Amino acid sequence: MSFFAPLPQQPADALLALIGLYRDDPRAHKLDLGVGVYRDEAGRTPVMAALKQAEKRLWESQDSKSYLGPEGNAAFTRHMRALAFGAGDFGGRITGVQTPGGTGALRLAAELLAAAKPGARVFVGTPTWPNHPPLLAAARLTTQTYTHFDVATQRLCFDEMMAALGTAQAGDVALLHGCCHNPTGADLDGDQWAALADLLADRGIVPLLDLAYQGLGHGMDADAAGVRLVLDKVPEALIAYSCDKNFGVYRERVGALFALTAKAADADRVNSNLLSLARANWSMPPDHGAAAIALLMEDPDLVVQWRTELDGMRDRLRAVRDTLAAHGGALAHVAEQNGMFSQLPLSPPVIARLRAEHGIYMAGSGRINIAGLTVETAGRFAQAIAACV
Ligand SMILES: Cc1ncc(COP(=O)(O)O)c(C=O)c1O
Repeated sequence: MSFFAPLPQQPADALLALIGLYRDDPRAHKLDLGVGVYRDEAGRTPVMAALKQAEKRLWESQDSKSYLGPEGNAAFTRHMRALAFGAGDFGGRITGVQTPGGTGALRLAAELLAAAKPGARVFVGTPTWPNHPPLLAAARLTTQTYTHFDVATQRLCFDEMMAALGTAQAGDVALLHGCCHNPTGADLDGDQWAALADLLADRGIVPLLDLAYQGLGHGMDADAAGVRLVLDKVPEALIAYSCDKNFGVYRERVGALFALTAKAADADRVNSNLLSLARANWSMPPDHGAAAIALLMEDPDLVVQWRTELDGMRDRLRAVRDTLAAHGGALAHVAEQNGMFSQLPLSPPVIARLRAEHGIYMAGSGRINIAGLTVETAGRFAQAIAACV
């Protein structure tokens, strides 16, 4: 009897299977709207020029690859803290560590929550990023779902969200997308964030804020505005930050986890727990991407260059969204949504016909990557939908 015999075959990642189908499709006009990475007009996911410069400087200046420690690159974490929290002074109540991407930050957050309160209940709006539920389950947290977005009507279900969180007890957790919700692009407006922040504070709910697309919605500060409203109101929170999209460093695995503590005196103790959990998981995070980003952030010219490139990416996404929305129908609401994704109200047979008859590849849920389109191909995509519904 094999030791591994009890292990069941796990289902293949549906999006990876889609990549294979797309690759094998010989049609020249095929469109890949599945994979979740930014693409430029030419369909490439380029290394940002500012980052390339920083990597060159890193190569020239780095004289050791000795261990750094479980906290990773402290300068990097300081810069990411400024991006996420802004100029706000939290009186020594923030502590943070570098993590392997936003996924590592979320996993570390889940383990910290479980260490503080085993089996803690986490409220999760659906649909959500498919990795959220298994990641919480891996830390043996329990999840309570509510509807964040109604795909059929393309409506953000804010009342449902408030009603669900209105039943939460002190010490429950709310997992919230900071901006550019994945997979729906449906974000709260300023008034909604303010009302949510009050509710979280009143009920003693601990927010776990997932900020993975800062700068790809409305701008760096605008995209953190909701998160900052919450941070101003609640005593304690966790912020999982990913740089993989806004610095285009996906495979380098660059992120950070921050904790806002009730008192400055708590910060060191919470940090010591983050470090020991990190040590037990990955010992220390990969250095290269974070070290390059730290160098970038220390050069004002490179920061301007990076921000200009990021603005260009955001403007491109916005132009594609506006073009799509002008076609109405299933696309009518995409201009109100933000970031790289929207989840369209298309049935599985329509999604299958789009692939078979038009070479258009998207997730079975109807999620599309806006960056897989251009202003030119958006019209063809809209016509194909009109022909299939
Ligand atoms: C909502 C959300 N959170 C976190 C992540 C994790 O990002 P990373 O690639 O940095 O692990 C993603 C990635 O797709 C995401 O969509």
